[in-house]
Amino acid sequence: MKKLVVGNLKMNLDLDQIASYLEIINEEVHSPHVVICPTSIYIPYFLSHDYRVGIQNTFLADEGAYTGEISPKQADSMGIAYTILGHSERRMYLKETDDFINKKIIAALKNYMRVIVCVGETLEERKMLKTDRVIKREITNALRGLTKEQLDNVVIAYEPIWAIGTNQTPTNKDIEDMINYIKLLVESYFNYPNIKVLYGGSVNEKNITELNKIKNLDGYLVGGASTNPEKFLKIIEVALS
Ligand code: PGA
Repeated sequence: MKKLVVGNLKMNLDLDQIASYLEIINEEVHSPHVVICPTSIYIPYFLSHDYRVGIQNTFLADEGAYTGEISPKQADSMGIAYTILGHSERRMYLKETDDFINKKIIAALKNYMRVIVCVGETLEERKMLKTDRVIKREITNALRGLTKEQLDNVVIAYEPIWAIGTNQTPTNKDIEDMINYIKLLVESYFNYPNIKVLYGGSVNEKNITELNKIKNLDGYLVGGASTNPEKFLKIIEVALS
């Protein structure tokens, strides 16, 4: 099975930089296995070049008086395939709770979007050996109430918070163990044995070859390195080889 590579540009790049980004990325990025999630105001540029596009967040309602929010219905109507929900930056800076994230996941799935659900532990939680407990809580709360058909459109991204933007990654063994744990967890709690799991956190053009040796991994969620088109292309090349 070919992996999925998702680039999360976060709140990076201005209009000129987006223009040069679009000039550099090429056919490889047109693969159905690559998804780019630009800052939402730039999404139409990527859609008009036929890239597979994701959005970095969607709200829990389809429409209404929610200034600044974008609904999954609106995103779907644009042809945006994926939404990223539960990212640690939104949990941290916007105080998003497990329950709120669960509601947003359900709303996105009802609107035919695919959802990338992010989970991950802080360094403190890891040091206190609470990683498994945190991941279990985040996943069971996020996926609460989902049907098997809905789970077909869910991908989990395991992103240890201490590895995001820090150039630090867990060992391959640690990642592999966590992926197995997540797959077993979703199987036992939701009777769903086939959940796809991505790894995210300081994936770059230098460590991708090593990370790509992990056997049970279904792909990558790439932040910082995806904002550099050359680096992103190199990651895609290795990941999809
Ligand atoms: P990073 O971010 O690749 O810059 O560590 C990953 C993410 O937050 O999705």
